[in-house]
Amino acid sequence: MKRLLVTGVSGLLGINLALRESAHRDVVGVINSHSLVDAPFLTKPFNLTAPGAIDRMLDEIKPGAVIHCAAMADIDACEKQPEKAAVINTRVPGILAQACSVRNIRLVHISTDAVFDGQRGDYVETDIPNPLSVYARTKLDGEKAVLDAFPKAVVARVNFYGWSLTGKRSLAEFFYNNLSEGKPVNGFTDVQFCPLFVNHLADLLLQLLDSGHSGLFHVVSPVSLSKYEFGCRIAEAFGLDKNLIKPVSVMDGGLTARRSPNLTLNTGKLSKALQSALPGVEEGIKEFAVQMKEGFPQRLKNYLNQS
Ligand SMILES: NC(=O)c1ccc[n+]([C@@H]2O[C@H](COP(=O)([O-])OP(=O)(O)OC[C@H]3O[C@@H](n4cnc5c(N)ncnc54)[C@H](OP(=O)(O)O)[C@@H]3O)[C@@H](O)[C@H]2O)c1
Repeated sequence: MKRLLVTGVSGLLGINLALRESAHRDVVGVINSHSLVDAPFLTKPFNLTAPGAIDRMLDEIKPGAVIHCAAMADIDACEKQPEKAAVINTRVPGILAQACSVRNIRLVHISTDAVFDGQRGDYVETDIPNPLSVYARTKLDGEKAVLDAFPKAVVARVNFYGWSLTGKRSLAEFFYNNLSEGKPVNGFTDVQFCPLFVNHLADLLLQLLDSGHSGLFHVVSPVSLSKYEFGCRIAEAFGLDKNLIKPVSVMDGGLTARRSPNLTLNTGKLSKALQSALPGVEEGIKEFAVQMKEGFPQRLKNYLNQS
């Protein structure tokens, strides 16, 4: 089976994807400012914004396929550093797509549901995006850069949760961490989304990669709910007190970047392409809780090189 290169392997998606896939195929993960210890796959350091780094990476690792998870994914940080966000979220994916096209390497590029303004919801792939933040605008420009350079690439718009190396990266971890310490939190009742469990996302991305499909896909849960309801489901799965979650409007959340209220995406194109039903929120949260019982979050943290 062809070697799979995963960029952003210290990130929430990258680490879970690489761990899951390394059981089945040869995986090489690209690290940047965070390195890993004793990971069950090879890691190589490349700062993708350095001149010539992408060509060097592909020539050294010689992958058959790339899943590009590296990004500047902190929405408020992008607002503060728009030029840096444009380099990482737009320019790097464009260069990578061009380099993969020349070498005929399969490419899956990761984008976001946040490209839409969230006024309507149930968006299909042909709907016109209207990004509200620097993050969303640079990610949308990244999609275009990828598909212009390499029309055979897959661009996946995602929204997901799972356990991360730092234990603080996903919304599910936010609810779990605070509620398990008895701390009250806000839950937005007016932000709807379609969160997918990261392992389910990994499986769907690999199916898209292996299927030979190309172009834009919405790869999210077919089930939508509000962020408040999501927090309540997490509380229930872990036997925590959901009354600690205060139902509030996003307008009262004190966030820097504007958030889109209804980011539900239609997954009809994906389920038709893969000819299968997609996993929902219920199964995902169940697996997320099972991972905790099995000590997965602690095992993850042990991979992070603290020195
Ligand atoms: N998390 C979500 O809920 C969410 C929702 C929608 C879409 N997405 C998209 O999903 C993808 C993965 O997100 P994530 O949450 O897993 O991201 P993340 O946890 O923030 O991780 C980002 C990764 O990118 C790497 N990176 C950043 N700059 C780099 C550079 N110059 N060279 C090489 N690597 C670099 C980071 O490496 P170092 O930390 O080692 O520097 C890190 O491994 C992104 O495209 C994001 O836009 C995420």
